[in-house]
Amino acid sequence: MANPVVNAEYLKEIEKARRDLRALISSKNCAPIMLRLAWHDAGTYDVKTKTGGPNGSIRFEEEYSHGSNAGLQIAIDLLEPVKVKHPKITYADLYQLAGVVAVEITGGPTVPFAPGRKDSSVCPEEGRLPDANQGVSHLRDVFYRMGLSDKDIVALSGGHTLGRAHRERSGFQGAWTKDPLKFDNSYFAELVKGEKEGLLQLPTDKVLLDDPVLRDYVVLYATDEDKFFEDYAESHKKLSELGFTPPRTCLTRGKTRSILQQGALGVAVAALLLVLSYFYEINRKTK
Ligand code: HEM
Repeated sequence: MANPVVNAEYLKEIEKARRDLRALISSKNCAPIMLRLAWHDAGTYDVKTKTGGPNGSIRFEEEYSHGSNAGLQIAIDLLEPVKVKHPKITYADLYQLAGVVAVEITGGPTVPFAPGRKDSSVCPEEGRLPDANQGVSHLRDVFYRMGLSDKDIVALSGGHTLGRAHRERSGFQGAWTKDPLKFDNSYFAELVKGEKEGLLQLPTDKVLLDDPVLRDYVVLYATDEDKFFEDYAESHKKLSELGFTPPRTCLTRGKTRSILQQGALGVAVAALLLVLSYFYEINRKTK
């Protein structure tokens, strides 16, 4: 499918959709499933084959019916009226924007959002997203395949500060934190404390403590929320832009144009000065 044209009109539409998403997500309390949708659309990326990634392909039944996507049709359906209202915006942009807004309105960091993702109708094969029953080497296999790092694995796992697992969707049950609608560093604080008070810890959450490199990030984020927010925003932006290079926007083009205009003005002024000094010289000689 074609690249969307990111001009002033598209950017304006993005801002309108952002406002609609804020209203929708806060009225339905659906930030967690919106974040999970954005992550599952993006998390299929394969850096070697440049396939998968945040391209809206999860909107097709072929993909949302994958086992790991159970329940996500709810989020896809909730976003459809926003797409209908803003048809220019691609599904790929809309789903990533919903993820960014979900983090923002639950109190998390501002994740910079660049529009222009292309929609794809090619669905990746099943099995690219992580399996919650596996260990560190599996997590590394999956995140390295996306082109992400150890720091990204831990920072992004902090997304489980929001929401809960549903037995009928994943086989797991319960929330990771006491306030699943607040984006903070409590996922890490609870992880360090160990399983207590009936809060959920998936096998893939617990294994973050088994590896010395990953563990250091868990401990850091459990004690320093500012650092977690800073790293999370960076990792989330990377995840939302896998395989995508933001186009030079009209703003950049505008700047370029004004630089060119300034240059042309400079040349015109110099030419005028030259002509004036020529006449001045002739005038002086003829006196
Ligand atoms: C590290 C590997 C990961 C595994 C194995 C994993 C697995 C899971 C599982 C099993 C659920 C429960 C689904 C359900 O029953 O409804 C879940 C929910 C969730 N995941 Fe992850 N996840 C991972 C990474 C991430 C990342 C990177 C993010 C976002 C940055 C994320 C965001 C969420 C959210 C927000 C929910 C709650 C959804 C809701 O409340 O409906 N997860 N995840």
